[in-house]
Amino acid sequence: DVWPGEPSDAYWRQQLDSAERELRQGAWSSAIARVGATQLRDSARARYIVARALDAEAEARRDNRLLSRAIAAYLDLLKMNERLSDKKLLEVASRTLDRIQFRGNYLNAEPVYRLLIRRFPNEPSHRNNLTISFLMANRVDLAEEVLKETLKRWPDDRIALAHYGFVLKTKHNQYEKAVEFFEKALEGDTGPANEARFYYHYGDSLLLLGRPDEAHEVHKRGAKLGHFLSPSQRSLYNVPRLKGSPWWNIEDTPYLRLAKALEKSWKEILKEGEAAKALYEQEKEGLKERGEWSQLDLFVRGQEIPDRCKRAPVTCAIVKSEPAAAGCRRGQVKFSAMAAGTHVRAHVGPTNCRLRMHLGLSNTKDTYIRVDKEIRQWQPGKVLLFDDSFEHEVWHNGTGTRLVLIVDVWHPQLTPAERRQLPAI
Ligand code: LMR
Ligand code: MN
Repeated sequence: DVWPGEPSDAYWRQQLDSAERELRQGAWSSAIARVGATQLRDSARARYIVARALDAEAEARRDNRLLSRAIAAYLDLLKMNERLSDKKLLEVASRTLDRIQFRGNYLNAEPVYRLLIRRFPNEPSHRNNLTISFLMANRVDLAEEVLKETLKRWPDDRIALAHYGFVLKTKHNQYEKAVEFFEKALEGDTGPANEARFYYHYGDSLLLLGRPDEAHEVHKRGAKLGHFLSPSQRSLYNVPRLKGSPWWNIEDTPYLRLAKALEKSWKEILKEGEAAKALYEQEKEGLKERGEWSQLDLFVRGQEIPDRCKRAPVTCAIVKSEPAAAGCRRGQVKFSAMAAGTHVRAHVGPTNCRLRMHLGLSNTKDTYIRVDKEIRQWQPGKVLLFDDSFEHEVWHNGTGTRLVLIVDVWHPQLTPAERRQLPAI
């Protein structure tokens, strides 16, 4: 019996049958009204019909308020979990989790996973999925608690080992220990933890430990498995067919006009960058090994930061004249100020969908940027163009604060549809 403990009364059974028929036919409101009677208050089947109807209507109308009501209705149904068969519980839970994730409210998933963990205590996957939910909600602390429990009982669970490596690296800066966990999780390059992001953090931990040769071995493994475009091009959000080259000749792109316009106005751009000094923010991704590095965003994800362009009108007018720059939803436009003595460690950007233009502005003497194998230098009033999905590294061995303007542009091979539809980064 799919619905144990339901009303035995023939009339109410018939009502539920009719409501289910209406649900199938898309008559959502009548289905909901029909099972709303107080006599069906304790019926799991009635709650199921309500949740399904709200869910279907929310989807058809693309209505997020209805979707929230559908999620609440599913959670209501799950409170009666002892009345649901294993199969039904898994079906309802998986739809509920799918809808919660679609809504982006990851913490709401916790009670559902807790329920699954209670019902299927010998199944580590529910614990691992709860861990992922906490990580998506940026609650590394909660993820760590779950992981410790999981690893106590399943010390060889590769997914848990890999996530614990990630927590050790990103929360505790324990790179050595992180490497041990990644090593075990990815041993033999097989198993369920065989994922791009784990190879990425495994290699990055080795780079942080100053073990570049071992990092390179991991990056080669990751590239061979198709997780990276190449050992040195390790962005995780990619359109695979795009040409990948560390350094680009501007003449080979549609951005020569933009570059020339920036170079022509470089002195005014420099003035605008210097006049806004009070607004710069410290870089906080932990990429600088030593020194000071701060930035002033003008455009982020293809959107102007409100009122910023009033501060830099010349710069913004040039940027806005190139839609592939002002509208680059996978990039930024920003001033980047780096103090003398700064070293930015080897790292990669998140996507191969942009190229990064740098306009040199001030104190560029004895500053260096390596992209993949080739080191170049900025010059005041001159533009460089590179692909920051390749490993790159920066040194300021000179004096004074080096200023550059960074302008990201869409990769020239992306189609107009892709530029419109790719999710922003
Ligand atoms: C980077 O993107 O890592 C650097 O090139 C930024 C900068 O200011 O040089
Ligand atoms: Mn970078």
